[in-house]
Amino acid sequence: MEKVVIYGAGQLGAMVACILSPRNDVQVVGFIDDDPHQVGQQYDGLKVVGDASLLPQLHQQGITAAIVAIGNNRIRGRIATHLTATGFELINAIHPTANISKKARIGKGSIIGAGTIICSNSVIGSNLYIGPGAVISHDTSVGDNVLLSVGCVVAARVDIASGAFIGAGARLVPAEWGRENRLRIGENAVVGAGAVVLKDVPPNAVVVGVPARILRYRDPEAN
Ligand SMILES: CC(C)(COP(=O)(O)OP(=O)(O)OC[C@H]1O[C@@H](n2cnc3c(N)ncnc32)[C@H](O)[C@@H]1OP(=O)(O)O)[C@@H](O)C(=O)NCCC(=O)NCCS
Repeated sequence: MEKVVIYGAGQLGAMVACILSPRNDVQVVGFIDDDPHQVGQQYDGLKVVGDASLLPQLHQQGITAAIVAIGNNRIRGRIATHLTATGFELINAIHPTANISKKARIGKGSIIGAGTIICSNSVIGSNLYIGPGAVISHDTSVGDNVLLSVGCVVAARVDIASGAFIGAGARLVPAEWGRENRLRIGENAVVGAGAVVLKDVPPNAVVVGVPARILRYRDPEAN
């Protein structure tokens, strides 16, 4: 049985613990959190054992797997890179009710919520958070460190670049039929809750509405 530490003791951390606890191939040993007020706290019988400085010691003790449970894409990505560099293997936390095609490919370190559907020939990166009830249709690609919020719908032939944030209930749909027509969501773009995106979204753009239009551009260096 592989021993796992969850990085992040907030709501997402609790969700990951809930998904992993019934599994008999992994054992969650506790949380890591950088908030000093969290260290020593206990949630559902799992202790916040320390901050990032404890990682090498945990690894030496045989805790070799980890997953980052932090919503912010940039921070989640940074911590995942640090964990890998420290020798941890990143594991996925996939809710048992998620329906994932055997013909879909999924990377490492992702949290996939209840009722999520991922269809055939989709290629999903690493360190994603995919909220409950999200639907990712066939022949779609999703980069690393992406967040797909609860209930969003990604139609077939959509490409979402790394770091993008897709808000709750948003719908991403290529406007034109046909295999050659794809919809592209740029790196670090933000799609507002409830938006219907029919046209390509440039990197760092924030889009909202039905149909979605550009509201502003975000600072690519900001968290
Ligand atoms: C898109 C978003 C990031 C924009 O945030 P922001 O830059 O702070 O925008 P503001 O709140 O300042 O709003 C600016 C304008 O856009 C409008 N707007 C903001 N979000 C909108 C949305 N989702 N749909 C339609 N219009 C929206 C506001 O009404 C406002 O319009 P006004 O200028 O006419 O008053 C944010 O509103 C959003 O939708 N976040 C997603 C939240 C979510 O899905 N969370 C899920 C977590 S699991």
